[in-house]
Amino acid sequence: MNDKKTVQTVAVIGLGKIGLTLAAVFANNGFHVIGADHKETVVHLVNQGVSHVSNEPGLDQLVAEAVRNDRLRAVRDTSAAAAESDFVVVIVPVLIKEDHEVDYSFIDAAVEDIGAGLTKGTTVIFETTLPAGDTRNRFGKRLEEISGLKAGFDFYLAYSPERVYSNRMIHDLQQYPKIVGGTNDKGLQAASDFYKQSLRCEVIEVDSAETAEFSKTAECVYRDVNIALANELAVYAEKKGVKISDVISAGNTQPFSHLHTPGIGVGGHCIPIYPYFFIKRGLHEGLTPMARKINDSMAAYAVTKMEDYLDTLEHKNVLILGLSYRGNVKEPTKSTALLLAEELKQKNAWVYVNDPLFTDEEISTFSITPLSLADKRISSIDAVILQAFHNDYHSIQFDAFTNCKLIFDGRNELNEEEITALGIQYEKIGL
Ligand SMILES: NC(=O)c1ccc[n+]([C@@H]2O[C@H](COP(=O)([O-])OP(=O)(O)OC[C@H]3O[C@@H](n4cnc5c(N)ncnc54)[C@H](O)[C@@H]3O)[C@@H](O)[C@H]2O)c1
Repeated sequence: MNDKKTVQTVAVIGLGKIGLTLAAVFANNGFHVIGADHKETVVHLVNQGVSHVSNEPGLDQLVAEAVRNDRLRAVRDTSAAAAESDFVVVIVPVLIKEDHEVDYSFIDAAVEDIGAGLTKGTTVIFETTLPAGDTRNRFGKRLEEISGLKAGFDFYLAYSPERVYSNRMIHDLQQYPKIVGGTNDKGLQAASDFYKQSLRCEVIEVDSAETAEFSKTAECVYRDVNIALANELAVYAEKKGVKISDVISAGNTQPFSHLHTPGIGVGGHCIPIYPYFFIKRGLHEGLTPMARKINDSMAAYAVTKMEDYLDTLEHKNVLILGLSYRGNVKEPTKSTALLLAEELKQKNAWVYVNDPLFTDEEISTFSITPLSLADKRISSIDAVILQAFHNDYHSIQFDAFTNCKLIFDGRNELNEEEITALGIQYEKIGL
């Protein structure tokens, strides 16, 4: 498909958790890979054959092997990387701002750099989760303006959503079908052929870049809405004195029922973010915005339940276990821990956070006091909230929390019997 060179080179723009994993897999499947990232430390480490991404099984070895075999190198110059490459895969974040409008600052900068280096025959594939239409209308047009080349003719353009789950990304890249949509047939074909070789997985070709973009956001909305439903049912069941976990296991024996598990909140840089790509672009009412509201209200609900039990949270020492949005992933974006800390501070509680994946300095940047489980001060903790169930918490000894009156199990993971045997009240979302 590519008419430029015989040796296939791919530039991966953004060597973060996803980009580095993609780069290492592409390299180990026979491509020359140039990873481009703004961060000097990332570039330096990758060129030493060292992965900066933790807790990703198999990644350390893949990166080391790819660098040793001269298949992977990292640079800071995105334009030069794009100029040398047959394929450019863009995987720098798109986030949302405080007002939930889309924040394009990282990716716009990357597109400027790619455009400056773009040459004829290159296929540019966006993998970052995007509002439908952006590959063609926002980035395709900008690349044309900067490069003077015509999208779909001089260079090819496609979108393929990244759907992997942290902690098992290499496995998911092989197992999940890769959805691909082009801005025209040539873009689709170039991207589809590329993924068949570079990931060796099943490829699902969809009719347009917009369908591919929409499919990823729709997946996230599906998860958000279904978690919100589980949360709503859990709160209602609690009022009715019914145990929601029993309801869910009984209900899900019907093959069409897929009730999710309720919990203290939804975090990370996918599910709480991408529904706003719809909400801010016309879907102002209905299930999508309602689900966001429900899931973001669960932290306040938990804090109110704690306050009801303790009478007051004023000047109580409350420890949140897990700054990360979920267990065993170092990712604080939109973490429920931050919503909990805010709610607790409003009640004038003293808030502490423990997270074995973060340094004390990193935790302090969120204006929360870090607390090690080895610290003597845990004996003065009044209440504990399990927010992210890290592996380290499997063996947590609550008898060391000698003054603790309440444990709120936000993830329904702790042993209720062991906790109540210590004379500590056990609470969760639902009964
Ligand atoms: N992490 C996940 O679990 C996940 C899952 C599915 C999809 N995604 C998609 O992948 C995207 C990236 O996620 P991630 O976890 O790899 O992010 P990350 O924050 O770990 O990494 C992003 C990298 O991009 C670099 N970067 C930022 N702007 C740049 C620029 N202009 N030029 C070059 N490099 C730049 C940063 O330095 C950083 O190293 C997400 O925004 C999302 O769309 C992520």
